[in-house]
Amino acid sequence: MIIEPKMRGFICLTAHPAGCAENVKRQISYVESQKLPNGPKKVLVIGASTGFGLSSRITAAFGAGAATIGVFFEKEPLEGKTASAGYYNTVAFHEEASHAGLYAKSINGDAFSKEVKQETIDLIKQDLGTVDLVIYSLASPVRKHPETGVLHRSVLKPIDQSYQNKTVDFHTGIVTDVSIEPATGDDIPNTIAVMGGEDWQLWLEALRGAGVLAPNVITVAYSYIGPELTNPVYRHGTIGRAKDHLEATAARITEQLKDLNGSAFVSVNKALVTQSSSAIPVVPLYISLLYKVMKEKNIHEGTIEQMSRLFHDHLYAAQPAAKDAQGRIRIDDWELREDVQAAVAELWKGVSTETISQIGDLKGYKDDFLNLFGFSVPGIDYTKEVDEMAIIK
Ligand code: NAI
Ligand code: NA
Repeated sequence: MIIEPKMRGFICLTAHPAGCAENVKRQISYVESQKLPNGPKKVLVIGASTGFGLSSRITAAFGAGAATIGVFFEKEPLEGKTASAGYYNTVAFHEEASHAGLYAKSINGDAFSKEVKQETIDLIKQDLGTVDLVIYSLASPVRKHPETGVLHRSVLKPIDQSYQNKTVDFHTGIVTDVSIEPATGDDIPNTIAVMGGEDWQLWLEALRGAGVLAPNVITVAYSYIGPELTNPVYRHGTIGRAKDHLEATAARITEQLKDLNGSAFVSVNKALVTQSSSAIPVVPLYISLLYKVMKEKNIHEGTIEQMSRLFHDHLYAAQPAAKDAQGRIRIDDWELREDVQAAVAELWKGVSTETISQIGDLKGYKDDFLNLFGFSVPGIDYTKEVDEMAIIK
C-alpha cells in the first residue's frame, strides 16, 4: 500500500516501513564508524524499539558486536493497517543483524508483567546463558502493577502551584500560553509507579534470581533534568518525582548486585524529539530553540550519537568520564552548557508565532517528529507501494 502520515494530536497513527528501515540503517552506519573494542557481549534492552532504547541496542550490536534481546510493546501490522514504528524499526534491526551475523531476538509484550519477565529469562537461558548489560529504557503512560493489578497512569503536572508558560503546537507553529493545573489526589504516587524505579528493580531481581546475570553486570536507566524554565513541569513536577525515585533505585540495585560485582547507573540524557517527549507541554518549544542553538554551535546530537558517547566515554571507557555529585552519568552536559542555556533563555523571551520560524528550529523538530514514524526520511519515495505486512523474523 501507499502509506501517508495520519496525525492525531501528538501521535501519528501510521508508520512507514521503508522510512523506519532507513532510520535504522543510518544509525547502524554511524556506530560502525565508531567501533567499540571492549564493549558488551550479551545484552538485554528493555524498551528496545524506539528512541534511546533502540539506539542503545544498535550501539551494542553494531558498535560492539553484541548479541541482543529486545523487549518492547508495539502494534503488529494488519492487512491494510500499518504496524507501529517500533515494530518496523525492529523488523529492520533483525534483518540487518542477520546480514551481519549478529544474534537478535525480540519479545513483544508488556515489560511490566511477570509473564514477559519470565519469557525473557527463559530466552536468555536457552540462547545466551547470561547477559552482561541490561538497558532499561521504558517510557509509558500506564503500568499495570504485577502484584495488585492496579492500572497506574502517569501525569505531567506541576506540584503545589499551577504553571504558566509558552508552548508551541509544532504542527501549526502557533505559540500560545499554556496553564497547567497542579497534581491532585494520587497523581504523584501514580506517576512514580509508572516511571519510577520499581519495575527496573523487579527486572534485576528476577534476572538475578534466575541466575542469568554475568559477573560484573552493568545496568543503566535513563533520566532527564533539563533547563530551569521547564523545571515546574518536568524536574520539579510529577515526572521529576518519578525520576528522583528511578535515580535512587540505582544505588539499591547496585547493593543487590554486590555478589556479582555488578553496577546500576542512571544516565541523564539530552532532550530529544521522541514519542514521549512530544507529549510534554512547553518541552517541544524548548527543544526547537535548543536544536537551533546546538546546531549552530555544532554540538547537536540525536539518540544514536548520545548512546554512542554513553558507551564510549562512560560505560566501556578505560577511564570513564566523571559522574556528578549524585553519581549520575551526564550526557546532557552539552545541553546544559552555560553558553547554550544562556542563548536559549534569550531566544525564549522573544519567541512567538511570528518569530519561531526564524529564531527556532521548528522545521528540525517537525522533521524529527515525522522521522520517528518513518516519514520525511531523505531518500525514500513515498509515492511507491510498500509492504505493510513486513514482519519481525
Ligand atoms: P520512547 O517512547 O521512544 O521508547 C519507549 C520504549 O518503551 C519503546 O521501545 C516502547 O515499545 C517501550 N514500551 C513502552 N511501554 C512498554 C511496555 N508496557 N512493555 C514493554 N515495552 C514498553 O521513549 P524514549 O524517549 O526513548 O525514553 C526512554 C527513556 O529515556 C525514558 O526513561 C525517558 O524518560 C528517558 N529520557 C528521554 C528523553 C527525551 O528527551 N526523549 C531525555 C532524557 C531521558
Ligand atoms: Na527507548
